[in-house]
Amino acid sequence: MALYSKFPTEELSKSPMGTYLIKRVSILVMVVALLSIRGADSRKARILESFEYMAISCREHSASITDFGGVGDGQTSNTKAFQSAIDQLSQYALDGGAQLYVPAGKWLTGSINLTSSHFTLYLHQDAVLLASQDETEYPVIKPLPSYGRGRDAPNGRFTSFIFGTNLTDVIVTGENGTIDGQGVVWWQNFHKGKLKYTRPYLIEIMFSTNIQISNLTLLNSPSWNVHPVYSSNILVQGITIIAPVTSPNTDGINPDSCTNTRIEDCYIVSGDDCVAIKSGWDEYGIAFGMPTKQLIIRRLTCISPYSATIALGSEMSGGIEDVRAEDITAVHTESGVRIKTAIGRGGYVKNVYVERMTMHTMKWVFWMTGNYGSHADKNYDPNALPVIQGINYRDMVAENVSMAARLEGISGDPFTGICISNVTIGMAAKAKKVPWTCTDVEGITSGVTPRPCDLLADQEPEKQTTCDFPVESLPIDMVEFKRCTYILK
Ligand SMILES: *[C@@H]1O[C@H](CO)[C@@H](O)[C@H](O)[C@H]1NC(C)=O
Ligand SMILES: *[C@@H]1O[C@H](CO)[C@@H](O)[C@H](O)[C@H]1NC(C)=O
Ligand SMILES: *[C@@H]1O[C@H](CO)[C@@H](O)[C@H](O)[C@H]1NC(C)=O
Ligand SMILES: *[C@@H]1O[C@H](CO)[C@@H](O)[C@H](O)[C@H]1NC(C)=O
Ligand SMILES: *[C@@H]1O[C@H](CO)[C@@H](O)[C@H](O)[C@H]1NC(C)=O
Ligand SMILES: *[C@@H]1O[C@H](CO)[C@@H](O)[C@H](O)[C@H]1NC(C)=O
Repeated sequence: MALYSKFPTEELSKSPMGTYLIKRVSILVMVVALLSIRGADSRKARILESFEYMAISCREHSASITDFGGVGDGQTSNTKAFQSAIDQLSQYALDGGAQLYVPAGKWLTGSINLTSSHFTLYLHQDAVLLASQDETEYPVIKPLPSYGRGRDAPNGRFTSFIFGTNLTDVIVTGENGTIDGQGVVWWQNFHKGKLKYTRPYLIEIMFSTNIQISNLTLLNSPSWNVHPVYSSNILVQGITIIAPVTSPNTDGINPDSCTNTRIEDCYIVSGDDCVAIKSGWDEYGIAFGMPTKQLIIRRLTCISPYSATIALGSEMSGGIEDVRAEDITAVHTESGVRIKTAIGRGGYVKNVYVERMTMHTMKWVFWMTGNYGSHADKNYDPNALPVIQGINYRDMVAENVSMAARLEGISGDPFTGICISNVTIGMAAKAKKVPWTCTDVEGITSGVTPRPCDLLADQEPEKQTTCDFPVESLPIDMVEFKRCTYILK
């Protein structure tokens, strides 16, 4: 019993600051084992419930939002509770890290600033974080430096609902718990032109590294859903995103000036692009000069009747390079992969690889637009031409398609190195007469039906081509998950 007296339960559950914390699981498990040997105390042992999940890091400390006065009734504001929880737990950043547990309930709150590194926000399956609809709960911050201005209004922007900046090792996860952006008021104000600042995103992590966002349901974001920006080593997994297909700018996942990102097993129904890859806008993006590169998207299902499954741009002025996508399903989506750019953007989109994409009911399977327009202001450089080069698509099947491809490069700045192989596109009964339109593009096709445009002439059967897809993995694919176990009091 020497061990038992060394680790009395009171010490295990009561922290110096008077809130209840759960310490090292290994120690608790030992106590549980000892308690159960002691017969009379075994009832106590049984009320300790444990849960576990996979994460890039486990935490030594854990506390529940209820320990900080949180009330999950859907009415009471928890803004202060979240603030003080994160403030207090941040003291463990360099002492094993901390987890904030959100139990079942509806937790109304304003913007949550994740100010701590080595921190996990964990949502129980029946936990719903309800985003306040009160604008004053979203402090106004400066526009993104690579955009120069807000998307909805020129000045500042409302802080995102879940926000973090300059962090290392941050996790937002759950057993498919919900984050509800309650976006309808924001959408109305957007349509009425009543927004003084750019709408909040649902989750935005800036200037950070080692990020995991997994196993959550995101509902009705005011605008973009998941926005990692100026960050690296990012894992987005098992996310369900749902917003009305007519809601404005409710993009799914937008990696923006990020390196080494993995997005997988996501299901997205939204009013804008399911995944939109970005890197800054016109002269601001060129000056900031931070590309998005080393990105893999796999096992994505997208429904978005007015937008793309995967878009690159239109803000791509910092460059986009080494993007891979595989096993993508699109159902009733305007386009498959879409590249959007314009004169004045500068930058580049190069080395894009897509394989095994299945599409049903599409307007365009392939779409490239060189005249997207949409400038941050009038000061863009008309000589800043984007370079679009090395775009590879292979092994795709589409059904019920209105137009196979609409590929429009820039006059004097053609999009080059386009390769499309083994693609079968079934046209809709009411399809356009000419399935392909191509201007200012160069490349090849092989084994593609219906017959491509002359600018992308099909290879003769005897010299069939298979378009490239890299064989070596990205560093983010080497990330190993740990099994983290926590005990609830
Ligand atoms: C959020 O926290 C960061 C520090 O991590 C701070 O710089 C920033 O100003 C905070 N944001 C708001 C809106 O308070
Ligand atoms: C965050 O990091 C960026 C880039 O390193 C730096 O410019 C900025 O000042 C940092 N912000 C804070 C709040 O530390
Ligand atoms: C998560 O919840 C959403 C919304 O209820 C549901 O559609 C989805 O199937 C769930 N995902 C998993 C993996 O359980
Ligand atoms: C997400 O949930 C799935 C299904 O429960 C599980 O297999 C997976 O390990 C979880 N992943 C993460 C990163 O939370
Ligand atoms: C084919 O697409 C049209 C829209 O272009 C849609 O109305 C129709 O329901 C689709 N048919 C099938 C079989 O999915
Ligand atoms: C062509 O693509 C289809 C659909 O992805 C795939 O099943 C088939 O194996 C591919 N054929 C070749 C020769 O790679």
